[in-house]
Amino acid sequence: MYNDIIMEHFMCPQNGYFMPDSDAEGEYGAVSCGDKITVYIKVRDNVLTEVSYLIYGCGASIACASMTTIMVKGKTIEQALLVTEEMVDDALGGLPQLKKHCSNLGVGALRYAIDNYKHYQSLKL
Ligand code: FES
Repeated sequence: MYNDIIMEHFMCPQNGYFMPDSDAEGEYGAVSCGDKITVYIKVRDNVLTEVSYLIYGCGASIACASMTTIMVKGKTIEQALLVTEEMVDDALGGLPQLKKHCSNLGVGALRYAIDNYKHYQSLKL
């Protein structure tokens, strides 16, 4: 059902850990299946220097979360916001049709984390 790239990120996910000193976090859930993720970010000089997550989800959502963190780590906030669910899907070599929605979790939670980060920054002004 899953290709080798997806299996690699499912069996050995990257950046899957709690980040107690994050600058912001974002949560996202898939209503259809009940899967849920929290993404944590650390930002220095507008760059995502650290990105991690904790997830309760299917194998595809874990692989997508892993790939999402790899794709955005080291990027500016603006560059990270250009990463789409489709790009994560492509980077994983293509999710099975029934699993396309699984890429929403990592990307969606990342966007909420960035939104929260921007909100916290605006409160400091
Ligand atoms: S089955 Fe819903 S996130 Fe994978």
